[in-house]
Amino acid sequence: MNAVVLTETGAPDVLRIGSAPDPVAGPGEVVVALRAAALNRRDVYLRKGVAPSPLPVIPGSDGAGVVRSIGAGVSGVSEGDEVVILPSLGWGGGEDAPAPGFRILGGPDDGTYAELIRIPAENVLPKPARLSFEEAAALPLAGLTAYRALVSRARIRPGETVLILGIGGGVATMALHIARAAGCRVIVTSSSEEKLARARDLGAAGGVDYTEGDWVAGVKEMSGGGVDVVIDSVGSTWPDSINCVRPGGRVVAFGGTGGAKVELTVRPLTMGQVSLLGTTMGSPRDFAGLLAAVAHQSWVPVIDSVRPLADVAAAHAREEAGAHFGKLVLTI
Ligand SMILES: NC(=O)c1ccc[n+]([C@@H]2O[C@H](COP(=O)([O-])OP(=O)(O)OC[C@H]3O[C@@H](n4cnc5c(N)ncnc54)[C@H](OP(=O)(O)O)[C@@H]3O)[C@@H](O)[C@H]2O)c1
Repeated sequence: MNAVVLTETGAPDVLRIGSAPDPVAGPGEVVVALRAAALNRRDVYLRKGVAPSPLPVIPGSDGAGVVRSIGAGVSGVSEGDEVVILPSLGWGGGEDAPAPGFRILGGPDDGTYAELIRIPAENVLPKPARLSFEEAAALPLAGLTAYRALVSRARIRPGETVLILGIGGGVATMALHIARAAGCRVIVTSSSEEKLARARDLGAAGGVDYTEGDWVAGVKEMSGGGVDVVIDSVGSTWPDSINCVRPGGRVVAFGGTGGAKVELTVRPLTMGQVSLLGTTMGSPRDFAGLLAAVAHQSWVPVIDSVRPLADVAAAHAREEAGAHFGKLVLTI
């Protein structure tokens, strides 16, 4: 099969299409003929060696396609089924946190930048009928992360105000849709006026440019004193996020785009009775909840751009530069 096989880390041009053996479904597994894949910030970290993985490896956590073959003992999945892939591997049965063997698809396990993928049968779910393959491929990792952060961790309620940092991001745009569909008011931040305008078009009540002046004051003014929930994928912003919430508010954190280390002052957290909630990806139950929500709601993942798999290096360059708004999709 054709696949992007990462053999060395480095700049985007280390990503090239090569050939790899056709995968064969073992017991409990299926092989999916992928129709589309999508990028995540994690893919950039993997390609640069920031998130180390044994090489060679096929990157890619997100994909949608058609079941090509099924292994022994698989039930409930048939050849020809149109499916979307759950990128959590080995989460286990608990809802509080993943099991010790938890992995994210696409390093060290071969991922979705390929014509075919071999994957446990429980990791393929019916593709939401109203989504195209490109839209379905954009959904999994970002949608799952946003869903768990908002629904399972922050337990958002209709009428609450949610602040989403860095709205250009893939998870952030999913979070905007999920929070709006849950009846929340959404405020966003971005480095770009154009992205703030696009967020307002998608239903955000307002936005603040985080590169200009005191953006925390802007959020407080816009929210009448503080938001209920902050979705923080940036990391270095934790002190600001804590200052943005009303007393008793929640900050949900899952990323470190702005830096992996942060210094906090204790008092705003304790005096404000703020809950700082960590989250990662999501469980199979979270993914089922996301797919059920998508089936009943009308939003579609925000797609920044669609390219053929052969143009994966250009997609990586755009993602790394933060020029995108939403998800970068690769057709296969
Ligand atoms: N733990 C998990 O399970 C998990 C799952 C998914 C993602 N993540 C992490 O979450 C982060 C986002 O992932 P993604 O795939 O959505 O990334 P992405 O699509 O590359 O989005 C990154 C966005 O971050 C925003 N940003 C960067 N620096 C910022 C700052 N100082 N303040 C506010 N916003 C800032 C930018 O928004 P603007 O362009 O609007 O300025 C940028 O577009 C990454 O760090 C990723 O590793 C973690």
